Amino acid sequence: MSVFLIVALFFGSVLAEENILCTESFCKDAVCADLPTKCKIQNATHNGIFLPSPVFCNCCEYCLENMLEGDECSTGNPSSPSHTSLCGPQLYCKLRADSDFDGYCTRMEAACLKVQDSYDERRANGTLGAMESRQECDDEGLFAPYRCIPGQTCYCLNKNGTRIFGEAAFTSLPSFNMQCLERARTLPGARSARGRESSATTAQVPPPPRRFSKIARFSDALLRDYEEAVYVIGKELVPSEYFRCTASGDYDTIQCIGEQCLCVDASDGAPTYPDNSLVNLTLISNKTLSCYRGDKDGVFYKKCEAEYIGILNEYKEYKEDGFDMVFGYTFPKCDIDGTYKAVQENSTHKICVDKEGEVLTAVDKVANATLAESMDCKCLRALAVITSDEIPTCDANGNYARVQCRRGVCRCVDSDGNQVCSSTSCEVEESDKESLVCS
Ligand SMILES: *[C@@H]1O[C@H](CO)[C@@H](O)[C@H](O)[C@H]1NC(C)=O
Ligand SMILES: *[C@@H]1O[C@H](CO)[C@@H](O)[C@H](O)[C@H]1NC(C)=O
Ligand SMILES: *[C@@H]1O[C@H](CO)[C@@H](O)[C@H](O)[C@H]1NC(C)=O
Ligand SMILES: *[C@@H]1O[C@H](CO)[C@@H](O)[C@H](O)[C@H]1NC(C)=O
Ligand SMILES: *[C@@H]1O[C@H](CO)[C@@H](O)[C@H](O)[C@H]1NC(C)=O
Ligand SMILES: *[C@@H]1O[C@H](CO)[C@@H](O)[C@H](O)[C@H]1NC(C)=O
Ligand SMILES: *[C@@H]1O[C@H](CO)[C@@H](O)[C@H](O)[C@H]1NC(C)=O
Repeated sequence: MSVFLIVALFFGSVLAEENILCTESFCKDAVCADLPTKCKIQNATHNGIFLPSPVFCNCCEYCLENMLEGDECSTGNPSSPSHTSLCGPQLYCKLRADSDFDGYCTRMEAACLKVQDSYDERRANGTLGAMESRQECDDEGLFAPYRCIPGQTCYCLNKNGTRIFGEAAFTSLPSFNMQCLERARTLPGARSARGRESSATTAQVPPPPRRFSKIARFSDALLRDYEEAVYVIGKELVPSEYFRCTASGDYDTIQCIGEQCLCVDASDGAPTYPDNSLVNLTLISNKTLSCYRGDKDGVFYKKCEAEYIGILNEYKEYKEDGFDMVFGYTFPKCDIDGTYKAVQENSTHKICVDKEGEVLTAVDKVANATLAESMDCKCLRALAVITSDEIPTCDANGNYARVQCRRGVCRCVDSDGNQVCSSTSCEVEESDKESLVCS
């Protein structure tokens, strides 16, 4: 987790893993066995998983072939030789009733796979909405790090399928660089991660071979770890308590902990120059820190963070001066990229703002209580990201309107803009709009 990762980084434990014996020359003379056939093909049906070699120093590539659903498998009799194959992505070895070790590769029972199964069943039944897309799941049956609304946006999910920070235009999907989406590229089915709207090219790019590396493990670490840290600690972290990320979900390459700043790697947050000394925040510039990209020297915190820390310092001063209770402070809510969260609040209004804190819409908490309570601003924020001409309809509080119409056809959507079928139908003609009852 990033909060704990910070501690780890500063004590240099990341470096302790280096094995000084395994130099490049050590591997030069290594003779490696041929890779199994399926590992070399790596297409949808013939594939394998690359693992750290059990041989000293990891000189050779090591890969186990993936078995398909229904294949016979073994969970490994301790007395038998090591595996050459294992159940493929989203499968596990379900033991036969009469065996302690042997069984058949069977689809995992995971929430994400159930979402897929429901989609597949409804597609087979012909009861699927035209704007529904199939949820991607990873090899372990967990939710892929993103979900897409065809033609509109893709947003980040944690592994339980809960929406987290991070959103990008749907059209940028083929080239997105959101860390939260990084793992998508290594998903077996991710070659065609787009929805059913296939006006764009659907080039069959083969998936890159899956490799087990430190980067792969940490690739989506920041966002998901932040969410997990919040879950464990039980409160949102405040600016300067966590590593900042970019709007797209990478680690910001410059980080400051308290007054000390350093350059880190965008993908895993590890120090770029572990031997360099830390730089005092007031002295950061492109001369003292090569990763610094700001316009003004000595400035690390973004507008929302700076506002937050300013109020916090003022608040602390009053406390130190002996005031027991300090009233009248409204802390801005900042996202983990240091910009303003979509929903802000003052004593009278709930407010949708853009990333710079500019007001998009405001709702009176008393006069429009219902609108204010349910305000999530997700639709207004999506408008800032969508590049297509076909944009969703937003309610007065910035939420997705429950009924969305496009090209003369109307459908129901959930609060994130995903199509949901009503009990009576998935779509109706715009002239019958009133007949659509969205729950
Ligand atoms: C994968 O490659 C194998 C061997 O070349 C081939 O038999 C199989 O049909 C391919 N599968 C797909 C889905 O392309
Ligand atoms: C799909 O059809 C099957 C059998 O025809 C039925 O049992 C199932 O409930 C249907 N599912 C949905 C989601 O309508
Ligand atoms: C995800 O779900 C599991 C099981 O339901 C739960 O134990 C875990 O705390 C959840 N994690 C997060 C980050 O929500
Ligand atoms: C950073 O610089 C400021 C201003 O020069 C100084 O007051 C502060 O003590 C320095 N902080 C550290 C940790 O050296
Ligand atoms: C460093 O910053 C100065 C202004 O602060 C700018 O003129 C210069 O081009 C920058 N150098 C690099 C390498 O970015
Ligand atoms: C709260 O914010 C709204 C919208 O910006 C503004 O109109 C209103 O005056 C603010 N209320 C207070 C008490 O500052
Ligand atoms: C708030 O409620 C008033 C009536 O109480 C209504 O006239 C107004 O349009 C509402 N404002 C919004 C933003 O919905």
